[in-house]
Amino acid sequence: MRKKRVFVTGGAGYIGSHVVKLLGEEGYEVLTYDNLSTGHRWAVLAGDLVVGDILDREKLLEVIKSFKPDAVIHFAALIVVPESVSRPLKYYRTNVVGTLNLLEAMKKAGVSFFVFSSSAAVYGNPEEIPIGEEHPLRPINPYGETKATVERILRDIKLSGDPFRWVSLRYFNVAGADPGGKIGFAYPDPTHLIIRALKTAKGELKRLEIYGTDYPTPDGTCIRDYIHVEDLARAHILALEYLLEGGESDAFNCGYGRGFSVREVVDAVKRISGVDFEVAERERRPGDPPALVAKSEKIRKVMGWTPQFDDLELIIKTGWEWEKRLTSRKS
Ligand code: UFG
Repeated sequence: MRKKRVFVTGGAGYIGSHVVKLLGEEGYEVLTYDNLSTGHRWAVLAGDLVVGDILDREKLLEVIKSFKPDAVIHFAALIVVPESVSRPLKYYRTNVVGTLNLLEAMKKAGVSFFVFSSSAAVYGNPEEIPIGEEHPLRPINPYGETKATVERILRDIKLSGDPFRWVSLRYFNVAGADPGGKIGFAYPDPTHLIIRALKTAKGELKRLEIYGTDYPTPDGTCIRDYIHVEDLARAHILALEYLLEGGESDAFNCGYGRGFSVREVVDAVKRISGVDFEVAERERRPGDPPALVAKSEKIRKVMGWTPQFDDLELIIKTGWEWEKRLTSRKS
């Protein structure tokens, strides 16, 4: 039997590269399509890499037509929330128009299975915690709007009766790195808490700033559901299998269903790194909901997802090991 072929946009990036690696290990034939704006050639550990942009419609169609994938996993996107506020057009073009280009190319090439990287940002300020998939999509920033817009496009494709099927995975706070040490987070100017804390422990940043200590949470800092990138990568393989086996188009949260505060994360990073770095308490960062925790039963039940790294220490440990290696890494 021919190996199943998977076309991965953004496969040279942080989450995409973990999925590409796992696809290779699971015996899929993989082709990564990435413009290398934030991704890296060295991060693509399975299959070939085509350097291309999802905004280049002709190239995208040509590459898909010649590779003839059974399914597409779509990571390529802009992801920095504050930048999406200052440069909305850029975000809508890449995240919405880029995805439309991809969906149209898939239609022309006759590819009918699609796994989409969505985000907890589609929920906005949650009405209740934990957040279930049925919660209304009410994003509070352009980044979240772009993801919600694509989800609405996907919903409408489903309603149209098109045989095309999709899974939208709504990521909570993704962190950690490949336990084998080959890949991990490597973007310039990271904004994420765990990465910034690790970089502060490493001495790359002078101090870590805590944005807001007066939230209505037990220690006054925001609570997030941190999920290890390897467990998230596994969720993509399961989503793919689910679609290939006839599963219905649907959206699934990707989180563990428990949260940690910013202070808890900072303490854990200090403990694991052994560095008592400087911490400064600052004003709230605009647009941060006090708590974001996933209801995670749906993906566990429907896809049989069983996390292997649901442990903050382990998440931080793999991130710390990676961060220490990163110093010698070249893009
Ligand atoms: N934080 C700090 N100091 C920092 C960085 C972050 O105190 O230096 C705080 C933030 O204010 C927030 C928490 O740590 O309270 C987590 O912030 P991150 O920037 O790490 O992550 P976010 O929760 O803001 O957002 C991330 C993704 C979104 C996604 C969301 C889902 O960037 O795309 O997780 O939960 F929608």
